[in-house]
Amino acid sequence: MTTTRRSAICLAACLGGTSALSSCSSEDDADTGEGAAVRVPASEVPQGGGLVRGQVVITQPVAGDFKAFAARCPHQGCAVDQVTTESIVCPCHGSQFALADGSVLQGPAAEGLTVRTATVDGTDVVVS
Ligand code: FES
Repeated sequence: MTTTRRSAICLAACLGGTSALSSCSSEDDADTGEGAAVRVPASEVPQGGGLVRGQVVITQPVAGDFKAFAARCPHQGCAVDQVTTESIVCPCHGSQFALADGSVLQGPAAEGLTVRTATVDGTDVVVS
């Protein structure tokens, strides 16, 4: 994804009333696009938690077991921006999703996060 496309997505998210600013940081601009492969050092993904990296959420619900999801909330399209020890949280209307499978723990979202493939490559987690 180019910075231009990323900026457009962030602008659209902000105009839509979201606070997806964490998705709009300059960190990893080249590899955080929706659908693009994302590579993160496994050591950066907290056990029993996770992180949001651009358009992707990576979790590690159990040591060494990495999961990945699209960061786009299925409710109204905001970017989830927080991963706690209990859930992935959407800032817009408070939906919460399970770390292990992205399923809905708390609405208003009626569907879970879109699952992406997370594999371990050396010391990194690669989301495809
Ligand atoms: S957009 Fe996520 S809860 Fe509404």
